[in-house]
Amino acid sequence: MFSLENFDIKLNTDIIGRNFIYTDEIDSTNSFLLNKSNKFSVDGTVLLAEKQEKGHGRNKKVWYSTRGYNLTFSILLTNKKYLEKNFNILNFAASLAVANAIENIYQLKTELKWPNDVLVNGKKIAGILMESVSRGNKIERLVIGVGINVNQILFQGNFNITPTSIKLELNETVERERVLAEYLNNFEEVLAKFEASPAEVLKDWKAKCGLLGEKISITDGEKTKYGVFDDIDEEGFLLLKNKGKIEKIYYGDVNI
Ligand code: BTN
Repeated sequence: MFSLENFDIKLNTDIIGRNFIYTDEIDSTNSFLLNKSNKFSVDGTVLLAEKQEKGHGRNKKVWYSTRGYNLTFSILLTNKKYLEKNFNILNFAASLAVANAIENIYQLKTELKWPNDVLVNGKKIAGILMESVSRGNKIERLVIGVGINVNQILFQGNFNITPTSIKLELNETVERERVLAEYLNNFEEVLAKFEASPAEVLKDWKAKCGLLGEKISITDGEKTKYGVFDDIDEEGFLLLKNKGKIEKIYYGDVNI
């Protein structure tokens, strides 16, 4: 059982997670918060579910998580101050905060993989899926979905990157309440940095990105491109260098 009391003592934020919803089962925490008719609109609302029937990840992949073992939650952002900026960088803010939280509590060395995977020892420990609803050319609500593998030790399915969990890396069961509170505390800090300067968030993110400067391939469906991972531009797109030319990559899976 997730102890709301234990979580609440550890939560140190002003906005993020102050409106907190805990549910046993839902289709997807992202889909629920994205849907306006569910009437949640408070900026910083966090929805945590023990089990998602339709938990999904990037590339329409299913996100599996066994009930009670991990953290699957979403954060709703509705304040214009975030949505009017280069909100794509929030993807980076969200994954950076996972890396910071895991390093702070457990001293596990994390690495970030473009666009927003968190790795430990080359294995995926967390993923982020940001989704939004717009009206005209304005983003109305933005949801950041986070899946952190906490105490799971067996994973089903086919994976591009081998999954791991905090428990597998540490060899001990860990407190989900602590991980979530530390994450949200950290995310609020990174968000403040984003408000002041999205470029600073990108700089911190790049410092943890192991593949910068490496020869990589990028797969998007059937297409694969090759080159050197030159940089990430100010909008968060990957710059791939090949034969002296730089190509901007908007989407895809990066591999060595
Ligand atoms: C990925 O690595 O592909 C992103 C995975 C994101 C999964 C989380 S779990 C909570 C939230 N609800 C969803 O349906 N997906 C995200």
